[in-house]
Amino acid sequence: MQFTLMTLPYEQTALEPHISAETVSFHYGKHHAGYVNKLNGLIGGTEYEDKPLEYIVKYAGGAVFNNAAQVFNHDFYWYGLSGTPTAPSVELSDLIERDFGSLEAFKELFLTAAAGLFGSGWVWLVITKENKLEIEQTSNADTPIRHGRIPLLTCDVWEHAYYIDHRNARPEYLEKWWKLVNWEFVSDNLAKVENDPIAGYSQSCNDDNEVCDYVDTMQENERTAT
Ligand SMILES: [Fe+2]
Repeated sequence: MQFTLMTLPYEQTALEPHISAETVSFHYGKHHAGYVNKLNGLIGGTEYEDKPLEYIVKYAGGAVFNNAAQVFNHDFYWYGLSGTPTAPSVELSDLIERDFGSLEAFKELFLTAAAGLFGSGWVWLVITKENKLEIEQTSNADTPIRHGRIPLLTCDVWEHAYYIDHRNARPEYLEKWWKLVNWEFVSDNLAKVENDPIAGYSQSCNDDNEVCDYVDTMQENERTAT
């Protein structure tokens, strides 16, 4: 199976003026596409050739993991942005207030974590198995789903996410990024977790084929193991 680059859910100009079309063109069209192409080149003829992306992220190592995780992370990043204003659901707002005090306090903590992450990586809002919201930093390609945590939102702090618009000024990028957060995506991710705390981020797999059978079996095993 060959992976394909996701289709952006908006035009490349849709995030302007906060993130330029030129940045989207390079970030999505060169960097993100590059991870997809490299992953396809690496998995041909291996045990991962016909596995779902999330399986590869969970179990592969080395370059296969790095490229698969970067595909997952970037998919998540683009879905988490919107050029039109959105708002958190009541459920999400309640959890943010409970665990961070307020949306403004959460913003402060999240952007501080993003600004302070050393080198390249990602900052995430995750929900733990204890139903608690936490901010998590991951380095390079690392990703919460590798460690059994469920992501609700991510910010890419690799320099390739902002160097065209802001050179090396990461905090400037973070303030702009915050204005684009797609709270509907974050709220939907939370709702999926509340509906199915084990599968969480996983999309339901309804196709009648071997890969979906495998995913369904794996998810069922995880449900019955808890
Ligand atoms: Fe990136």
